[in-house]
Amino acid sequence: MRNFLLALAIVLFAALAAAGWRGRKSERPPLQIFPDMKSQPKYKTQAETPFFADARADRVPVSGTIPVEIDPRDAYRLTGKIRDRWGDGFPVKVTSALLERGRQRFGIYCAPCHGLTGSGDGVVTEYALKGVVANFNSDRLRNLADGQIFWTIANGKGQMMGYPHIAADDRWAIVAWVRTLQLSQAAPLADATEAERSKWRTP
Ligand code: HEC
Repeated sequence: MRNFLLALAIVLFAALAAAGWRGRKSERPPLQIFPDMKSQPKYKTQAETPFFADARADRVPVSGTIPVEIDPRDAYRLTGKIRDRWGDGFPVKVTSALLERGRQRFGIYCAPCHGLTGSGDGVVTEYALKGVVANFNSDRLRNLADGQIFWTIANGKGQMMGYPHIAADDRWAIVAWVRTLQLSQAAPLADATEAERSKWRTP
């Protein structure tokens, strides 16, 4: 009898295993004994809603909305804008450490397209975007406000995508490096020492 029951158990187990009773995926919400507000009514991104006439659940924030984490006094540092205008000047301290950080970040994120000197001749232009990548050493880009360059890094422009994941202070570091490159490519002769100038004069 004991052997029979054992054999029966093995056969039953084998039959169940063969039938594929291994648990399966379910679209239904799991049974919740203590819900703890884990599921609540909500709209998923790009879902529809009958509430608004255009049926879109995604809404543009009311104009003038400031994200809770932005202190209005800090707005320029985080947006590059002062009210609705581009701001100029650096809201962070420009130090040689910041420039070094900017040089590194620029090398990682920008130089592939904009080139190491910012002339718009990065390695990518050998394959695509030739003549499209902006040249920082043009008058138009020299005259961009610091805030506009800051904003462009996060949001992109035209065929350039944005890099919103670069932290705000790193973006300012990059802006500082862009300014450094612009200066380096258009430095007045008067900035050089007499010794340097005489070196250049010798053929
Ligand atoms: C994939 C290539 C690519 C990368 C990487 C890239 N850019 Fe650009 N960038 C472009 C192109 C293309 C344009 C020209 C866009 C246009 O005017 O349509 C441009 C334009 C710009 C402009 C000019 C915006 C204006 O108002 O005309 C700035 C400033 C700029 N880029 C900064 C940066 C910085 C800083 C980085 C690094 C964080 C960066 N870009 C990374 C391709 C790139």
